[in-house]
Amino acid sequence: MKVSAFSVLGCAPALILLKLGCLARGAYVLDGRTLPDDFIFSCGTSAYQIEGATGSQAEGGKGTSIWDTFAHEKGLGHIANDETGDIAVDFYHTYPRDLPLFRQALGVNQFDFTVAWTRILPNGTGTTANPAGLNFYRDVIMTAHRNGMTAACTIYHWDLPQALQDKYGGWLNKQVVSDFRNYAEIIMDGLGDLCDDWLSMNEPRTFCQEGYGADPVSAPAIPNGTFKTEITCRHNAMLAHAEAHEVFVEKKKQGKVKGKFGIKIDGGPGVPMDPTSAADVAAVDRHHAFEFWEVSPLVNGTYNPTMRTALGSLLPSFTAEETKKVAGSYDFVAFDAYTSTWIAALNASDAAACTGEQSDFWPECVEDSETDHAGYLIGKPTESDWNFRANDTIYVGLRYMHENGIKAFTVGENGMAVIKEASLHLGERVVDADRVDWYRSTFKNINWVLDAGLPLIGASFWSCIDNLEWSSGFTIKFGLVDTKPGYNQTRTSKMSANYVKAVMTGELDSRYSYFPSEGI
Ligand code: NOJ
Repeated sequence: MKVSAFSVLGCAPALILLKLGCLARGAYVLDGRTLPDDFIFSCGTSAYQIEGATGSQAEGGKGTSIWDTFAHEKGLGHIANDETGDIAVDFYHTYPRDLPLFRQALGVNQFDFTVAWTRILPNGTGTTANPAGLNFYRDVIMTAHRNGMTAACTIYHWDLPQALQDKYGGWLNKQVVSDFRNYAEIIMDGLGDLCDDWLSMNEPRTFCQEGYGADPVSAPAIPNGTFKTEITCRHNAMLAHAEAHEVFVEKKKQGKVKGKFGIKIDGGPGVPMDPTSAADVAAVDRHHAFEFWEVSPLVNGTYNPTMRTALGSLLPSFTAEETKKVAGSYDFVAFDAYTSTWIAALNASDAAACTGEQSDFWPECVEDSETDHAGYLIGKPTESDWNFRANDTIYVGLRYMHENGIKAFTVGENGMAVIKEASLHLGERVVDADRVDWYRSTFKNINWVLDAGLPLIGASFWSCIDNLEWSSGFTIKFGLVDTKPGYNQTRTSKMSANYVKAVMTGELDSRYSYFPSEGI
């Protein structure tokens, strides 16, 4: 046990910690296995999803982000029930009581949150941080620290300043790369003494596909998006990440920031529909090359050969100088692990027709489905139509990353929404047996990953608290702590929070059923 870890967190020695509910790093025991001192269990949130004090309710000089604009375009079906994040779950005001609750209810030793670019630089650019915005985040982190949690600071989670979207098209213009670097530098100067770890951005594939691709469902929902616009966005996002990493490395040398630097990437690992078919197994490899597209740039500074061959000049290239910056631009990769997908090779006619955007299968040119040919779902359904509790999502995703050169990783996000949870009474909502079942599977996967000796350094539960689930609004609840949207709403921890805490602290063994009679 490192004394320094306790002094940072202001906690007492290890054995009394469990009793006091003051878990510090080094205290986790998972199914009889003592985890390394610096293993992290955290819960995650993002600015637009929880903070409020934005849009029509903006406080502290906050500027408008593309999500503020999108949410206020009412009547277009952008967000369920035309909800907005103007108040969200009011974390901007409630964090002094939320953070101790997250710590106590979930037993996590880190709080993952994101900084809203428009709280720091209301119009996206500038040379000094908006003091009210900076002070808000400083106090959030200090509150986390006082309550026994370190803080992982994510620089960007989808809420681009509207001003940059208006000025030059946001992520489609290379100018965003230097504006992101400038913002990253300002935020590292402002929070560098406090943030314990850093992440550049959340899920570039998803925000580019959903906001800048064909048929967009997320902000800024550009008209006439194509695969070309989506991939341009992804390329610029990777360059922006690498610039932020370069700033981090420089500032770390100067002693101005501390901890590790990562990026959050998402993707659904493939399961061959017919594991005895060489063609289906090869289709899974191809799916992974596209799905985990960030891996090769992060390791090698170039796109993987499968994508390069399939896309040719449609895929942008990194210059020699960019390749140097992008290759190795991380200390860890955070894998946002949710669901898996069945994969099969295409039949001959679909394969022949898979030559461009007119084909439903292009550019992967594999069959990708939540049901296999016999009609079996890939896993147990949840309230999100894209999210299933498959058997080995975390393990397969991390194994792919390991085999392809990623040197350390965390589970960056993992979680689910219980079916119809939003329409249940509080008493029913908090007895969330399906979420317990989900996290039991999570721990099983973590055990597999650790048994295989893969370099897993932490795992984060999504989400600390119910929040605005983007275009699904408040109809879908991912929290381990229950709440409703609005000012100063009651917080109630769910059974799943109790479950993860009991497992992480060695009180409960996840290999045994939590509800023997029901088999969960
Ligand atoms: C990943 C995203 O990062 C997060 O914002 C979202 O709420 C969860 N997935 C659940 O959909």
